[in-house]
Amino acid sequence: PAKVPLATVPLGLWGTAMTARRNVLELIPAIATRQPIVSGKTGVSWHMVMDPTALRRILKEKLDDYQKSVTTKLILNPAIGDSLFVAEGAHWRWQRRAAAPAFAQRHVEALGPVMTAAAEASCRRLAGARGPVDLFEETVAATFDVISDVTFSGDGMFDRDAVHQSIDAYIAQTAKLSLMDVLGLPAWLPRPGRLFSGPGLKRMKAIADQSIAARAQAAEKHGPPDLLDLLLVAQDPETGRTMTRDELRDNLLTFIVAGHETTALTLAWALYLMAFAPDIQEAAAEEARRALGDRAATAADLGALPLTMRIVNETLRLYPPAAFLSRTAQARDTLCGRQINPGDTVMMPIYALHRHHLLWDRPDAFDPDRFLTAPDRYAFLPFGAGPRICIGASFALQEAVIILSTLLARFRFARVPGREPQPRMILTLRPEGGVWLTVTPRD
Ligand code: HEM
Repeated sequence: PAKVPLATVPLGLWGTAMTARRNVLELIPAIATRQPIVSGKTGVSWHMVMDPTALRRILKEKLDDYQKSVTTKLILNPAIGDSLFVAEGAHWRWQRRAAAPAFAQRHVEALGPVMTAAAEASCRRLAGARGPVDLFEETVAATFDVISDVTFSGDGMFDRDAVHQSIDAYIAQTAKLSLMDVLGLPAWLPRPGRLFSGPGLKRMKAIADQSIAARAQAAEKHGPPDLLDLLLVAQDPETGRTMTRDELRDNLLTFIVAGHETTALTLAWALYLMAFAPDIQEAAAEEARRALGDRAATAADLGALPLTMRIVNETLRLYPPAAFLSRTAQARDTLCGRQINPGDTVMMPIYALHRHHLLWDRPDAFDPDRFLTAPDRYAFLPFGAGPRICIGASFALQEAVIILSTLLARFRFARVPGREPQPRMILTLRPEGGVWLTVTPRD
């Protein structure tokens, strides 16, 4: 693969000031999180890495030396504890082994009907729409339906509106995170205008706890096993260990947080891109109508929808929901000839990687057919890579293709001039202002 230069980012004046102050300030998060303090540090650097060979080293070969960044953990711990997404070392490994079977292909396919039902419900809402529609709001509703059904099977106990509100409030709170947070100031230090969503998070956890307790006692089966059923019996194949109730709850909430907005963003950005490319939209609609006729898509249709899958991949390239991954180095290393010290932050700007002119031909063009040939593994990282690659990737792709093809078969999407969204990075790459499109039923 082409060599892409590595840049150490001083982040302007901020970076310089923070590097100097960091030696004192890093003690605070370390104490707050009771983590060992890496000793012997003299100043901390931030490195921006886009070289595929270096990315492979960080994400795969030296996994334990590049742990999820201190900031990632500070942001996510209050909501999802030390679950799969944030845990490290042995605690991460056993959770991954225990959860992996729940995301095996046959289980993901068995969850297909939930996705089909969400696609149908989305069509009903769109059919009733008058005037432009915010497709981001719409796709969030659809993917939240899916994730709450596949985690808690829509149990009566599971108040999905309350959980949704808590998550929204939490994400809105992280939007208030400033550069100070990104650079490692402790999350509990009050900032002007910052809300603490403690009560919201407590409520969300209480709802999940009730649903888990009710399910564990339920005598009746409720249809195909959902993620809660699968995790209730999940065992680490090496040690036989099962999850405690708290671990179970934190992981189910992780799936909800990690799994719905990311897929909604993929769908909303895909529709936005196709509003600018009517020819591609028509070809995808034609593919969907040929494969589906009047019915909604199912998991079994995926093989007949290759263009839709390429559109999803091309959308993930141009607007990767996880536009930025970061790690905190635990050991000395060398990346692209540059020294990395313990405590340094290594940033992987996936958005920039996916548009790098040394790695992609006409990088800013929307061209789903570029995926007719597989891209270089470490040039295309919408789901990360290595052992910590997104556990829900095939779940997300299946869901995106089912919903997108069903919508395209039934509706035409067009831009609303003057209402273009601005991509903004708030945990994920979100369309500020919404994705407003006109939606016209096809006859
Ligand atoms: C991890 C992206 C959907 C659950 C990740 C990572 C990325 C990612 C980039 C790796 C983060 C890192 O290395 O720091 C996405 C995108 C999605 C999506 C773009 C949709 C288009 C889902 C779904 C679920 C899910 C549907 C679950 C139902 C997780 C979990 C992890 C993860 C549990 C942590 C895995 C581990 O560390 O072992 N995701 N994700 N994601 N994702 Fe996803």
